[in-house]
Amino acid sequence: MNLQIDSEKLASELHELAAFSETPSPSVTRIVFSEQDIAARAWFRQKCIAAGLTVREDAVGNTFACWQGTDASSGAVGTGSHIDAIPNAGRFDGTVGVLGGLEAIRALKNSGFAPKRSMELILFTSEEPTRFGIGCLGSRLLSGVLKSERAKTFKDREGNSLEDLRRQAGFVGDLASVELQPGHYAAFVELHIEQGPLLEARNQDIGIVTSIAAPAGMRISLTGSGGHAGAVLMRERKDAFVGAAEIAVAVEAAALCTGSPDSVATTGICDVFPGAVNSVPSKVKLEIDVRDSDLSRRDGMVTAIHEECQAIARRRQLEVTIEMVNSDAPAACDPSVVARITNACRHLGLTHMQMVSRAYHDSLFMSHLAPASMIFIPCHLGLSHRPDEFASLRDITNGVAVLAHTLAALAA
Ligand code: GLV
Ligand code: MN
Ligand code: MN
Repeated sequence: MNLQIDSEKLASELHELAAFSETPSPSVTRIVFSEQDIAARAWFRQKCIAAGLTVREDAVGNTFACWQGTDASSGAVGTGSHIDAIPNAGRFDGTVGVLGGLEAIRALKNSGFAPKRSMELILFTSEEPTRFGIGCLGSRLLSGVLKSERAKTFKDREGNSLEDLRRQAGFVGDLASVELQPGHYAAFVELHIEQGPLLEARNQDIGIVTSIAAPAGMRISLTGSGGHAGAVLMRERKDAFVGAAEIAVAVEAAALCTGSPDSVATTGICDVFPGAVNSVPSKVKLEIDVRDSDLSRRDGMVTAIHEECQAIARRRQLEVTIEMVNSDAPAACDPSVVARITNACRHLGLTHMQMVSRAYHDSLFMSHLAPASMIFIPCHLGLSHRPDEFASLRDITNGVAVLAHTLAALAA
């Protein structure tokens, strides 16, 4: 197969997509169902149509661009990722897997390859948890791990419901219709930047993902008692924010205490009410992210955080409620997909190593539907979720070539 990856076209598409942002370059902010997200989706649909793909969208906005195979009755081969971006992000997270997937399919088409299985490029809705507080919204619903009844209760921080927002964005039908049957996909493979430093440090072209670490999300609400910052004496205070600060330290300690570098825990959101410099904080909401490659160690951290929250709240006379937003198992990638990716690297003469994904991805949920794995490319200094995130065009092109060869092998 003579595959020509059009690197210049891909680079200019990545550049164009980065411009759909609420924040100025190099920062990218593209929150699901925002004006920028909706415009970027329309732009992407046109790219898929121009490539001769048939586009359909489901009720939550997952977008599927299909290249019909010669045997449409057999399960399709899926690839794809996300284009939503957290506040003040970079331009490569997710987008490399979406536009790289499109370029892989274009290159296969141009080479004269005729797939037996259909190939489907997927743009997943809201891989990032920014708006609804839970990651991988689209792939969670596709896999059935998240049921529509629960998703229908989701609201953003302004109180807008997922139900209203998705309809306003043009995605109609019942959310229950999003769930796919196992067998719809015969295999799934996602191209992504590593978001860690290993490939660059070890001078490897490609990472082949063998498992994805287990994420959990917690939402903690603390209620104390407010009042005048000058008048309420220190002895009489029930300051919800100081309790929250102690909890954030306990979250850090929970991860440090396991002794494993794979244990990580982050308090990324802290909403303080009423948020006035001369008012004692009466209410605080925290959102906490806890991860580990080992499920029992991850659950141990979650339990420790629970216990510390209760103890801190008791000591400070605060009311506390703790909600588990998600508590996901790690994904084991499929050895046969890993083998196909490995073969593609060998065929292309690219150095490669197997690795664990510490970040989560839509593949975590696609692995419930089909044998799945991921192709990682180096990301400069491992920097990600920040504007200076960078992957070189050479590495992106290598990743797309590996993806194209892997898709061809899976679809043949
Ligand atoms: C994905 O963005 C993650 O937080 O791992
Ligand atoms: Mn991300
Ligand atoms: Mn991502």
